[in-house]
Amino acid sequence: MANDNKRFQAIISHCKEYGFIFPSSEIYDGLSAVYDYGQWGSELKKNIRDYWWKSMTQLRENIVGIDAAIFMHPTTWKASGHVDNFSDPMIDNKDSKKRYRVDHLIEAHADELEATGKKVEAEALLAEMDRLLAAVDFPGLKKLIEDRKIKCSVGGTSNWTDVRQFNLMFSTQLGSVAEEASEIYLRPETAQGIFVNFLNVQKTGRMKIPFGIAQTGKAFRNEIVARQFIFRMREFEQMEMQFFIRPGTQKEWYEYWKNERMQWHLSLGIPKEKYRFHDHVKLAHYADAACDIEYDFPIGFKEVEGIHSRTDFDLRSHQEYSKKKMQYFDPEINQNYIPYVIETSIGLDRTFLMIISEAYWEEDLSTAEKQDSRVVLKLPPKLAPIKLAVLPLTKKDGLPEIARAIMDANKPHFRCFYEEKDAIGKRYRRMDAIGTPFCVTVDHQTKEDNTVTIRYRDSMQQERVAIHTLRDIVDKQIS
Ligand code: GAP
Repeated sequence: MANDNKRFQAIISHCKEYGFIFPSSEIYDGLSAVYDYGQWGSELKKNIRDYWWKSMTQLRENIVGIDAAIFMHPTTWKASGHVDNFSDPMIDNKDSKKRYRVDHLIEAHADELEATGKKVEAEALLAEMDRLLAAVDFPGLKKLIEDRKIKCSVGGTSNWTDVRQFNLMFSTQLGSVAEEASEIYLRPETAQGIFVNFLNVQKTGRMKIPFGIAQTGKAFRNEIVARQFIFRMREFEQMEMQFFIRPGTQKEWYEYWKNERMQWHLSLGIPKEKYRFHDHVKLAHYADAACDIEYDFPIGFKEVEGIHSRTDFDLRSHQEYSKKKMQYFDPEINQNYIPYVIETSIGLDRTFLMIISEAYWEEDLSTAEKQDSRVVLKLPPKLAPIKLAVLPLTKKDGLPEIARAIMDANKPHFRCFYEEKDAIGKRYRRMDAIGTPFCVTVDHQTKEDNTVTIRYRDSMQQERVAIHTLRDIVDKQIS
Protein backbone atom coordinates (compact mmCIF):
# COMPACT_ATOMS: atom_id res chain seq x y z
CA MET A 1 0.00 0.00 0.00
CA ALA A 2 1.34 3.41 -0.96
CA ASN A 3 1.42 6.00 1.77
CA ASP A 4 3.46 8.80 0.44
CA ASN A 5 2.56 12.03 2.16
CA LYS A 6 5.37 13.92 0.45
CA ARG A 7 4.01 13.00 -2.97
CA PHE A 8 0.49 13.88 -1.84
CA GLN A 9 1.60 17.33 -0.67
CA ALA A 10 3.48 17.85 -3.95
CA ILE A 11 0.28 17.08 -5.89
CA ILE A 12 -1.73 19.53 -3.77
CA SER A 13 0.85 22.29 -4.38
CA HIS A 14 0.94 21.50 -8.08
CA CYS A 15 -2.86 21.77 -8.32
CA LYS A 16 -2.72 25.24 -6.80
CA GLU A 17 0.33 26.49 -8.71
CA TYR A 18 -0.99 25.45 -12.13
CA GLY A 19 -4.61 26.59 -11.84
CA PHE A 20 -6.32 23.29 -11.09
CA ILE A 21 -7.64 23.75 -7.55
CA PHE A 22 -7.68 26.69 -5.12
CA PRO A 23 -8.87 26.84 -1.52
CA SER A 24 -12.35 28.41 -1.56
CA SER A 25 -12.49 32.16 -0.82
CA GLU A 26 -8.76 32.15 -0.27
CA ILE A 27 -8.51 35.93 0.16
CA TYR A 28 -10.44 35.42 3.42
CA ASP A 29 -8.09 32.58 4.44
CA GLY A 30 -10.27 29.88 2.87
CA LEU A 31 -13.13 27.78 4.16
CA SER A 32 -12.34 24.44 5.70
CA ALA A 33 -12.70 21.50 3.29
CA VAL A 34 -14.21 23.61 0.50
CA TYR A 35 -12.32 24.06 -2.78
CA ASP A 36 -12.71 25.89 -6.08
CA TYR A 37 -11.65 24.43 -9.41
CA GLY A 38 -9.53 26.83 -11.45
CA GLN A 39 -9.15 27.31 -15.19
CA TRP A 40 -7.54 23.92 -15.91
CA GLY A 41 -9.15 22.04 -13.04
CA SER A 42 -12.63 22.89 -14.26
CA GLU A 43 -11.73 21.68 -17.77
CA LEU A 44 -10.31 18.41 -16.46
CA LYS A 45 -13.31 17.92 -14.18
CA LYS A 46 -15.71 18.59 -17.04
CA ASN A 47 -13.87 16.12 -19.27
CA ILE A 48 -14.09 13.41 -16.58
CA ARG A 49 -17.80 14.11 -16.10
CA ASP A 50 -18.41 14.01 -19.87
CA TYR A 51 -16.47 10.77 -20.20
CA TRP A 52 -18.57 9.14 -17.47
CA TRP A 53 -21.80 10.56 -18.90
CA LYS A 54 -21.03 9.33 -22.40
CA SER A 55 -20.07 5.85 -21.26
CA MET A 56 -23.14 5.55 -19.01
CA THR A 57 -25.80 7.11 -21.29
CA GLN A 58 -24.82 7.68 -24.93
CA LEU A 59 -23.12 4.29 -25.30
CA ARG A 60 -25.98 2.41 -23.61
CA GLU A 61 -29.41 2.26 -25.11
CA ASN A 62 -31.19 1.50 -21.85
CA ILE A 63 -29.81 4.31 -19.65
CA VAL A 64 -30.98 7.91 -19.78
CA GLY A 65 -29.83 10.93 -17.81
CA ILE A 66 -31.67 13.54 -15.77
CA ASP A 67 -30.76 16.73 -13.93
CA ALA A 68 -32.85 17.01 -10.77
CA ALA A 69 -32.89 19.96 -8.37
CA ILE A 70 -30.65 20.08 -5.31
CA PHE A 71 -33.59 21.15 -3.14
CA MET A 72 -36.15 18.43 -2.63
CA HIS A 73 -39.32 18.07 -0.60
CA PRO A 74 -38.22 17.46 3.01
CA THR A 75 -40.21 14.22 3.20
CA THR A 76 -37.81 12.78 0.61
CA TRP A 77 -35.15 12.57 3.31
CA LYS A 78 -37.51 11.05 5.84
CA ALA A 79 -38.45 8.35 3.29
CA SER A 80 -34.85 7.71 2.26
CA GLY A 81 -33.82 7.18 5.88
CA HIS A 82 -31.37 10.09 5.91
CA VAL A 83 -33.19 12.00 8.66
CA ASP A 84 -33.01 9.02 11.01
CA ASN A 85 -29.93 7.17 9.86
CA PHE A 86 -27.50 9.51 8.12
CA SER A 87 -25.40 10.22 11.14
CA ASP A 88 -22.03 9.33 12.55
CA PRO A 89 -21.00 8.75 16.15
CA MET A 90 -19.02 11.78 17.34
CA ILE A 91 -17.04 12.69 20.38
CA ASP A 92 -15.84 16.13 21.54
CA ASN A 93 -12.73 16.98 23.47
CA LYS A 94 -13.89 19.15 26.39
CA ASP A 95 -10.65 21.14 26.56
CA SER A 96 -9.97 21.94 22.89
CA LYS A 97 -13.71 21.81 21.89
CA LYS A 98 -12.62 19.86 18.83
CA ARG A 99 -15.11 17.32 17.50
CA TYR A 100 -14.05 13.97 16.04
CA ARG A 101 -15.76 11.19 14.21
CA VAL A 102 -15.20 8.29 16.58
CA ASP A 103 -13.98 5.87 13.91
CA HIS A 104 -11.54 8.45 12.50
CA LEU A 105 -10.14 9.20 15.96
CA ILE A 106 -9.56 5.52 16.69
CA GLU A 107 -8.21 4.79 13.20
CA ALA A 108 -5.68 7.63 13.54
CA HIS A 109 -4.51 6.09 16.81
CA ALA A 110 -4.25 2.68 15.13
CA ASP A 111 -2.14 4.26 12.35
CA GLU A 112 0.22 5.68 15.00
CA LEU A 113 0.50 2.26 16.64
CA GLU A 114 1.27 0.64 13.31
CA ALA A 115 3.86 3.29 12.49
CA THR A 116 5.67 2.46 15.72
CA GLY A 117 5.74 -1.28 14.97
CA LYS A 118 2.68 -2.27 17.05
CA LYS A 119 0.75 -3.82 14.19
CA VAL A 120 -0.99 -6.54 16.25
CA GLU A 121 -2.17 -4.00 18.82
CA ALA A 122 -3.45 -1.74 16.04
CA GLU A 123 -5.40 -4.57 14.44
CA ALA A 124 -6.92 -5.59 17.76
CA LEU A 125 -7.99 -2.00 18.38
CA LEU A 126 -9.67 -1.74 14.98
CA ALA A 127 -11.40 -5.09 15.43
CA GLU A 128 -12.77 -3.98 18.79
CA MET A 129 -13.92 -0.68 17.27
CA ASP A 130 -15.75 -2.53 14.46
CA ARG A 131 -17.46 -4.76 17.02
CA LEU A 132 -18.64 -1.80 19.11
CA LEU A 133 -19.77 0.19 16.04
CA ALA A 134 -21.77 -2.78 14.76
CA ALA A 135 -23.41 -3.15 18.19
CA VAL A 136 -24.08 0.65 18.32
CA ASP A 137 -22.42 0.53 21.75
CA PHE A 138 -21.61 4.21 22.42
CA PRO A 139 -20.55 3.87 26.09
CA GLY A 140 -18.29 0.99 24.95
CA LEU A 141 -16.67 3.22 22.30
CA LYS A 142 -16.05 5.98 24.83
CA LYS A 143 -14.52 3.46 27.23
CA LEU A 144 -12.29 2.12 24.44
CA ILE A 145 -11.02 5.66 23.69
CA GLU A 146 -10.38 6.33 27.38
CA ASP A 147 -8.81 2.93 28.12
CA ARG A 148 -6.37 3.33 25.21
CA LYS A 149 -5.60 6.88 26.39
CA ILE A 150 -6.34 8.31 22.96
CA LYS A 151 -5.59 12.03 23.00
CA CYS A 152 -6.97 15.03 21.13
CA SER A 153 -4.45 16.06 18.47
CA VAL A 154 -5.07 19.75 19.22
CA GLY A 155 -5.31 19.94 23.03
CA GLY A 156 -3.31 16.80 23.79
CA THR A 157 -5.75 15.71 26.54
CA SER A 158 -8.10 12.74 27.00
CA ASN A 159 -10.97 14.74 28.49
CA TRP A 160 -13.83 13.40 26.31
CA THR A 161 -17.61 13.97 26.20
CA ASP A 162 -20.01 11.07 25.70
CA VAL A 163 -20.32 9.67 22.19
CA ARG A 164 -23.34 11.11 20.34
CA GLN A 165 -24.94 10.80 16.91
CA PHE A 166 -24.52 13.79 14.59
CA ASN A 167 -26.59 14.12 11.40
CA LEU A 168 -24.53 14.95 8.33
CA MET A 169 -27.20 16.80 6.35
CA PHE A 170 -27.05 20.58 5.93
CA SER A 171 -30.37 22.32 6.40
CA THR A 172 -31.58 25.73 5.29
CA GLN A 173 -34.82 27.73 5.12
CA LEU A 174 -37.07 27.87 2.07
CA GLY A 175 -39.18 31.04 1.90
CA SER A 176 -38.49 34.75 2.16
CA VAL A 177 -40.13 35.48 5.51
CA ALA A 178 -38.98 33.69 8.62
CA GLU A 179 -42.50 32.72 9.74
CA GLU A 180 -43.33 31.22 6.36
CA ALA A 181 -40.02 29.46 6.06
CA SER A 182 -39.81 25.72 6.16
CA GLU A 183 -36.69 23.74 6.79
CA ILE A 184 -35.24 21.89 3.84
CA TYR A 185 -32.00 19.98 3.27
CA LEU A 186 -29.22 20.28 0.76
CA ARG A 187 -29.20 16.82 -0.85
CA PRO A 188 -26.56 14.51 0.65
CA GLU A 189 -26.70 12.26 -2.46
CA THR A 190 -28.03 12.72 -5.98
CA ALA A 191 -29.70 9.30 -5.97
CA GLN A 192 -32.99 10.46 -4.42
CA GLY A 193 -33.59 12.87 -7.34
CA ILE A 194 -33.59 9.75 -9.51
CA PHE A 195 -35.90 7.71 -7.29
CA VAL A 196 -38.58 10.41 -7.05
CA ASN A 197 -38.49 10.73 -10.86
CA PHE A 198 -38.60 7.00 -11.50
CA LEU A 199 -42.20 7.01 -12.76
CA ASN A 200 -41.83 10.26 -14.74
CA VAL A 201 -38.89 8.89 -16.69
CA GLN A 202 -40.23 5.36 -17.05
CA LYS A 203 -43.58 6.59 -18.42
CA THR A 204 -42.43 9.49 -20.62
CA GLY A 205 -39.41 7.57 -21.91
CA ARG A 206 -41.44 4.33 -22.26
CA MET A 207 -38.54 2.58 -20.57
CA LYS A 208 -38.61 -1.18 -20.15
CA ILE A 209 -36.94 -2.97 -17.29
CA PRO A 210 -34.01 -3.41 -17.03
CA PHE A 211 -33.16 0.27 -17.49
CA GLY A 212 -31.12 2.94 -15.76
CA ILE A 213 -31.31 6.62 -14.88
CA ALA A 214 -28.06 8.54 -14.51
CA GLN A 215 -27.33 11.91 -12.97
CA THR A 216 -24.35 14.04 -12.04
CA GLY A 217 -24.46 16.91 -9.59
CA LYS A 218 -23.54 18.48 -6.29
CA ALA A 219 -24.10 16.78 -2.96
CA PHE A 220 -23.50 18.22 0.50
CA ARG A 221 -22.46 16.57 3.74
CA ASN A 222 -21.45 18.23 6.95
CA GLU A 223 -18.43 15.98 7.29
CA ILE A 224 -16.93 16.47 10.72
CA VAL A 225 -13.46 15.46 9.82
CA ALA A 226 -13.11 16.75 6.28
CA ARG A 227 -9.47 16.44 5.29
CA GLN A 228 -7.10 15.03 2.74
CA PHE A 229 -7.66 17.79 0.20
CA ILE A 230 -10.55 17.04 -2.19
CA PHE A 231 -10.84 13.45 -0.98
CA ARG A 232 -13.43 14.35 1.66
CA MET A 233 -15.24 17.64 1.23
CA ARG A 234 -18.42 19.23 2.49
CA GLU A 235 -19.59 20.19 -1.00
CA PHE A 236 -18.73 17.66 -3.69
CA GLU A 237 -20.03 16.19 -6.89
CA GLN A 238 -21.39 12.72 -7.52
CA MET A 239 -22.00 10.74 -10.71
CA GLU A 240 -24.68 8.20 -9.92
CA MET A 241 -26.75 5.68 -11.83
CA GLN A 242 -29.71 3.70 -10.55
CA PHE A 243 -30.42 0.56 -12.56
CA PHE A 244 -34.00 -0.75 -12.18
CA ILE A 245 -34.40 -4.51 -12.40
CA ARG A 246 -36.82 -7.34 -11.79
CA PRO A 247 -36.81 -8.53 -8.12
CA GLY A 248 -34.77 -11.70 -7.72
CA THR A 249 -32.24 -10.75 -10.43
CA GLN A 250 -30.19 -8.45 -8.18
CA LYS A 251 -27.26 -10.83 -7.66
CA GLU A 252 -26.46 -11.17 -11.34
CA TRP A 253 -26.93 -7.44 -12.05
CA TYR A 254 -24.77 -6.56 -9.06
CA GLU A 255 -21.95 -8.70 -10.50
CA TYR A 256 -22.56 -7.21 -13.94
CA TRP A 257 -22.17 -3.64 -12.67
CA LYS A 258 -19.14 -4.48 -10.56
CA ASN A 259 -17.45 -5.72 -13.71
CA GLU A 260 -18.68 -2.88 -15.95
CA ARG A 261 -17.51 -0.22 -13.56
CA MET A 262 -14.10 -1.82 -13.11
CA GLN A 263 -13.73 -1.91 -16.91
CA TRP A 264 -14.50 1.83 -16.98
CA HIS A 265 -11.77 2.46 -14.43
CA LEU A 266 -9.29 0.40 -16.42
CA SER A 267 -10.21 2.34 -19.58
CA LEU A 268 -8.60 5.37 -17.91
CA GLY A 269 -5.27 3.64 -18.47
CA ILE A 270 -4.75 3.00 -14.74
CA PRO A 271 -3.21 -0.44 -14.12
CA LYS A 272 -5.29 -3.21 -12.53
CA GLU A 273 -3.06 -3.52 -9.47
CA LYS A 274 -3.88 0.05 -8.46
CA TYR A 275 -7.50 -0.99 -7.84
CA ARG A 276 -9.22 -3.40 -5.51
CA PHE A 277 -12.75 -4.24 -4.43
CA HIS A 278 -13.69 -3.86 -0.81
CA ASP A 279 -16.85 -5.74 0.17
CA HIS A 280 -18.97 -4.12 2.87
CA VAL A 281 -19.49 -6.25 5.96
CA LYS A 282 -21.77 -3.81 7.74
CA LEU A 283 -24.43 -2.93 5.18
CA ALA A 284 -26.32 0.38 4.98
CA HIS A 285 -30.00 0.27 5.91
CA TYR A 286 -31.04 0.03 2.24
CA ALA A 287 -28.59 -2.57 0.89
CA ASP A 288 -28.45 -6.37 0.56
CA ALA A 289 -24.93 -6.27 -0.93
CA ALA A 290 -22.38 -3.48 -1.38
CA CYS A 291 -18.76 -2.94 -2.26
CA ASP A 292 -16.35 -0.13 -2.97
CA ILE A 293 -13.86 0.21 -5.77
CA GLU A 294 -10.74 1.43 -4.04
CA TYR A 295 -7.75 3.09 -5.68
CA ASP A 296 -4.23 3.16 -4.30
CA PHE A 297 -3.95 6.93 -3.62
CA PRO A 298 -0.66 8.38 -2.29
CA ILE A 299 -2.51 8.23 1.06
CA GLY A 300 -3.24 4.52 0.65
CA PHE A 301 -6.09 2.44 -0.79
CA LYS A 302 -9.33 4.41 -0.46
CA GLU A 303 -12.86 4.35 -1.85
CA VAL A 304 -13.56 6.05 -5.16
CA GLU A 305 -16.85 4.41 -6.08
CA GLY A 306 -19.59 2.43 -4.38
CA ILE A 307 -21.72 -0.27 -5.99
CA HIS A 308 -24.82 -1.03 -3.98
CA SER A 309 -27.63 -3.50 -4.35
CA ARG A 310 -30.33 -1.25 -2.85
CA THR A 311 -33.25 -3.75 -3.05
CA ASP A 312 -36.63 -1.99 -3.43
CA PHE A 313 -36.01 0.01 -0.24
CA ASP A 314 -36.11 3.51 -1.75
CA LEU A 315 -39.03 3.10 -4.16
CA ARG A 316 -41.06 1.21 -1.54
CA SER A 317 -40.39 3.84 1.06
CA HIS A 318 -41.29 6.71 -1.32
CA GLN A 319 -44.47 4.84 -2.16
CA GLU A 320 -45.32 4.63 1.53
CA TYR A 321 -44.59 8.29 2.32
CA SER A 322 -46.02 9.83 -0.88
CA LYS A 323 -48.96 7.42 -1.20
CA LYS A 324 -48.13 7.23 -4.95
CA LYS A 325 -47.71 3.79 -6.50
CA MET A 326 -44.11 3.16 -7.53
CA GLN A 327 -44.91 0.04 -9.50
CA TYR A 328 -43.93 -1.21 -12.88
CA PHE A 329 -46.00 -3.53 -15.04
CA ASP A 330 -43.74 -6.13 -16.59
CA PRO A 331 -45.39 -7.35 -19.79
CA GLU A 332 -42.98 -10.28 -20.11
CA ILE A 333 -44.22 -11.92 -16.92
CA ASN A 334 -47.56 -10.12 -16.73
CA GLN A 335 -46.90 -8.79 -13.22
CA ASN A 336 -46.80 -5.55 -11.30
CA TYR A 337 -43.88 -5.05 -8.94
CA ILE A 338 -41.68 -2.44 -7.29
CA PRO A 339 -38.34 -2.74 -9.11
CA TYR A 340 -35.12 -3.58 -7.34
CA VAL A 341 -32.16 -1.29 -7.87
CA ILE A 342 -28.42 -1.62 -8.41
CA GLU A 343 -26.65 1.68 -7.85
CA THR A 344 -23.25 2.80 -9.09
CA SER A 345 -22.08 5.92 -7.27
CA ILE A 346 -18.75 7.58 -7.98
CA GLY A 347 -17.40 10.84 -6.59
CA LEU A 348 -16.27 13.21 -9.34
CA ASP A 349 -13.79 15.00 -7.08
CA ARG A 350 -12.28 11.71 -5.90
CA THR A 351 -12.00 10.55 -9.50
CA PHE A 352 -10.22 13.83 -10.27
CA LEU A 353 -7.83 13.20 -7.39
CA MET A 354 -7.26 9.63 -8.55
CA ILE A 355 -6.53 10.70 -12.14
CA ILE A 356 -4.19 13.50 -11.15
CA SER A 357 -2.41 11.24 -8.60
CA GLU A 358 -1.82 8.68 -11.33
CA ALA A 359 -0.71 11.30 -13.87
CA TYR A 360 1.74 13.26 -11.70
CA TRP A 361 5.40 12.53 -12.47
CA GLU A 362 8.58 14.22 -11.41
CA GLU A 363 11.21 13.28 -14.01
CA ASP A 364 14.93 13.69 -13.78
CA LEU A 365 16.22 14.63 -17.23
CA SER A 366 19.83 15.36 -16.23
CA THR A 367 22.62 14.54 -18.63
CA ALA A 368 26.39 14.51 -18.13
CA GLU A 369 26.41 18.14 -19.33
CA LYS A 370 23.59 19.65 -17.31
CA GLN A 371 21.07 19.06 -14.58
CA ASP A 372 17.45 19.14 -15.66
CA SER A 373 14.06 17.92 -14.48
CA ARG A 374 10.39 18.35 -15.25
CA VAL A 375 7.01 17.83 -13.66
CA VAL A 376 4.60 16.30 -16.13
CA LEU A 377 0.96 15.30 -15.89
CA LYS A 378 0.60 12.20 -18.04
CA LEU A 379 -3.16 12.59 -18.30
CA PRO A 380 -5.10 10.45 -20.76
CA PRO A 381 -5.29 12.77 -23.82
CA LYS A 382 -9.10 12.46 -23.86
CA LEU A 383 -9.22 14.05 -20.38
CA ALA A 384 -6.44 16.65 -20.69
CA PRO A 385 -7.66 20.25 -20.22
CA ILE A 386 -5.81 21.39 -23.36
CA LYS A 387 -5.26 19.04 -26.26
CA LEU A 388 -3.02 21.12 -28.51
CA ALA A 389 -0.67 24.03 -27.76
CA VAL A 390 0.33 26.19 -30.73
CA LEU A 391 3.65 27.92 -30.22
CA PRO A 392 5.28 30.25 -32.77
CA LEU A 393 9.05 30.07 -32.39
CA THR A 394 9.37 33.86 -32.50
CA LYS A 395 6.98 36.79 -32.28
CA LYS A 396 7.91 38.05 -35.75
CA ASP A 397 8.53 37.07 -39.40
CA GLY A 398 4.88 36.13 -39.92
CA LEU A 399 5.08 33.08 -37.58
CA PRO A 400 2.35 34.28 -35.15
CA GLU A 401 -0.03 34.72 -38.12
CA ILE A 402 0.49 31.10 -39.22
CA ALA A 403 0.08 29.92 -35.61
CA ARG A 404 -3.18 31.89 -35.33
CA ALA A 405 -4.47 30.23 -38.49
CA ILE A 406 -3.69 26.79 -36.97
CA MET A 407 -5.59 27.86 -33.83
CA ASP A 408 -8.60 28.95 -35.87
CA ALA A 409 -8.67 25.70 -37.84
CA ASN A 410 -8.49 23.47 -34.76
CA LYS A 411 -10.21 25.26 -31.87
CA PRO A 412 -13.76 24.43 -33.01
CA HIS A 413 -12.85 20.74 -32.59
CA PHE A 414 -10.86 20.56 -29.35
CA ARG A 415 -9.35 22.88 -26.73
CA CYS A 416 -6.25 24.64 -28.12
CA PHE A 417 -3.91 27.09 -26.45
CA TYR A 418 -1.76 29.81 -28.01
CA GLU A 419 1.43 31.12 -26.45
CA GLU A 420 4.30 33.15 -27.89
CA LYS A 421 6.09 34.37 -24.75
CA ASP A 422 9.37 32.86 -23.40
CA ALA A 423 11.84 30.37 -24.84
CA ILE A 424 10.29 27.32 -26.46
CA GLY A 425 11.73 24.96 -23.79
CA LYS A 426 10.01 26.92 -21.03
CA ARG A 427 6.72 26.84 -22.90
CA TYR A 428 6.99 23.06 -23.34
CA ARG A 429 7.56 22.67 -19.60
CA ARG A 430 4.49 24.75 -18.76
CA MET A 431 2.38 22.58 -21.08
CA ASP A 432 3.86 19.39 -19.54
CA ALA A 433 2.85 20.64 -16.11
CA ILE A 434 -0.82 20.95 -17.09
CA GLY A 435 -0.83 17.73 -19.09
CA THR A 436 -1.11 19.02 -22.69
CA PRO A 437 -0.43 15.95 -24.87
CA PHE A 438 0.62 17.80 -28.05
CA CYS A 439 2.61 20.99 -28.69
CA VAL A 440 3.28 22.27 -32.19
CA THR A 441 5.99 24.76 -32.99
CA VAL A 442 5.71 27.04 -35.98
CA ASP A 443 9.16 27.96 -37.31
CA HIS A 444 10.77 29.39 -40.42
CA GLN A 445 10.56 26.09 -42.29
CA THR A 446 6.78 26.24 -41.84
CA LYS A 447 6.70 29.20 -44.19
CA GLU A 448 8.37 27.15 -46.88
CA ASP A 449 6.64 23.78 -46.68
CA ASN A 450 3.56 24.13 -44.43
CA THR A 451 4.92 21.71 -41.85
CA VAL A 452 5.31 22.13 -38.08
CA THR A 453 7.20 20.29 -35.36
CA ILE A 454 4.87 18.28 -33.17
CA ARG A 455 6.18 17.35 -29.73
CA TYR A 456 4.68 14.47 -27.77
CA ARG A 457 4.34 15.14 -24.04
CA ASP A 458 5.22 11.72 -22.60
CA SER A 459 8.13 10.72 -24.83
CA MET A 460 9.22 14.34 -25.58
CA GLN A 461 9.89 13.06 -29.12
CA GLN A 462 9.44 15.52 -31.94
CA GLU A 463 8.58 15.03 -35.58
CA ARG A 464 7.78 17.12 -38.61
CA VAL A 465 4.17 16.88 -39.84
CA ALA A 466 2.01 18.74 -42.35
CA ILE A 467 -0.28 21.36 -40.81
CA HIS A 468 -3.38 19.84 -42.38
CA THR A 469 -2.77 16.49 -40.58
CA LEU A 470 -2.85 18.02 -37.07
CA ARG A 471 -6.56 17.61 -36.50
CA ASP A 472 -6.41 13.94 -37.40
CA ILE A 473 -3.41 13.27 -35.15
CA VAL A 474 -5.13 14.82 -32.14
CA ASP A 475 -8.55 13.34 -32.89
CA LYS A 476 -7.11 9.82 -33.02
CA GLN A 477 -5.76 10.19 -29.49
CA ILE A 478 -8.78 11.82 -27.88
CA SER A 479 -11.69 9.96 -29.41
N1 GAP B 1 -25.93 7.20 -3.23
C1 GAP B 1 -24.97 6.42 -2.53
C2 GAP B 1 -23.91 7.20 -1.92
O1 GAP B 1 -23.99 8.44 -1.85
P1 GAP B 1 -21.57 7.02 -0.74
O2 GAP B 1 -20.66 5.84 -0.64
O3 GAP B 1 -21.95 7.73 0.51
O4 GAP B 1 -22.85 6.45 -1.49
C3 GAP B 1 -20.64 7.68 -3.08
O5 GAP B 1 -20.95 8.06 -1.75
C4 GAP B 1 -19.34 8.32 -3.54
O6 GAP B 1 -19.39 9.72 -3.34
C5 GAP B 1 -18.12 7.85 -2.75
O7 GAP B 1 -17.60 6.65 -3.28
C6 GAP B 1 -17.17 9.01 -2.95
O8 GAP B 1 -16.47 8.89 -4.17
C7 GAP B 1 -18.10 10.21 -3.02
N2 GAP B 1 -18.13 10.93 -1.73
C8 GAP B 1 -18.87 10.63 -0.65
N3 GAP B 1 -18.65 11.52 0.35
C9 GAP B 1 -17.75 12.41 -0.13
C10 GAP B 1 -17.12 13.58 0.42
N4 GAP B 1 -17.40 14.02 1.63
N5 GAP B 1 -16.22 14.24 -0.36
C11 GAP B 1 -15.94 13.82 -1.61
N6 GAP B 1 -16.52 12.74 -2.18
C12 GAP B 1 -17.41 12.04 -1.45
